[in-house]
Amino acid sequence: MDIVRKTFDEWAQSGRAKLMEQEHGKNVSKFLEKVSFEKSFTFLDVGCGNGWVVRKISTDPKCKKAVGIDKSKKMIIQARKAKKNSNEVYVHTDIESWKYSGKFDFIFSMEALYYSDSIERALKKIFKLLKPGGHFFCGTDFYADNKATIKWSKMMNMQMHLHSKQEWRKFFVDTGFETKTKQVKELKSKKKWKREMGTLFIIGKKPKREYSN
Ligand SMILES: C[S@@+](CC[C@H](N)C(=O)[O-])C[C@H]1O[C@@H](n2cnc3c(N)ncnc32)[C@H](O)[C@@H]1O
Repeated sequence: MDIVRKTFDEWAQSGRAKLMEQEHGKNVSKFLEKVSFEKSFTFLDVGCGNGWVVRKISTDPKCKKAVGIDKSKKMIIQARKAKKNSNEVYVHTDIESWKYSGKFDFIFSMEALYYSDSIERALKKIFKLLKPGGHFFCGTDFYADNKATIKWSKMMNMQMHLHSKQEWRKFFVDTGFETKTKQVKELKSKKKWKREMGTLFIIGKKPKREYSN
């Protein structure tokens, strides 16, 4: 079995999905609070874990549909068990091979993309799944500038693609996104990296019009 799927199935079973929710929750919430979900919208979370972000977003009355996908079946089972709203949908799939014909206004992903075999391929798929003018918010604590987190790949004992903020930015630009980055810090955290570096969000907007050369 795929090592990523196996690892996160085990994490789901041992209660670590809830710990991730707690660990990522503050910075993700701080980031999402600043997003203006003005009009009625659709939302996708790539690598949704136990679905905590999907559940949170689905309570917005303007949210027509919030979808969470994850390649770990056990994460998806947990997400479905915790489902609260009729507009929440969970699908067991990886982003790369997902067959979906619709398009989203917003796509979000926290600490998931660097596990994919190819970040470029995952980003291309996400770009395709966005409506023109739609946004992709990609959060990562694991990035080369955040030196304290580099050791995580050894601890996890599986492939985790480590890139700097500049490299992430380039992936997004090369995919065709209008790109910005933001570091969200937790100034009162006991962890130095959370205070000084924080979570890196790469924000990609799919242009309203696609230009061809
Ligand atoms: C570190 S966990 C983060 C979970 C959740 N986003 C959170 O913040 O709590 C990464 C999740 O991404 C999923 N994942 C990794 N690669 C994926 C891919 N290519 N497609 C879909 N899900 C993926 C894993 O199964 C795992 O549940």
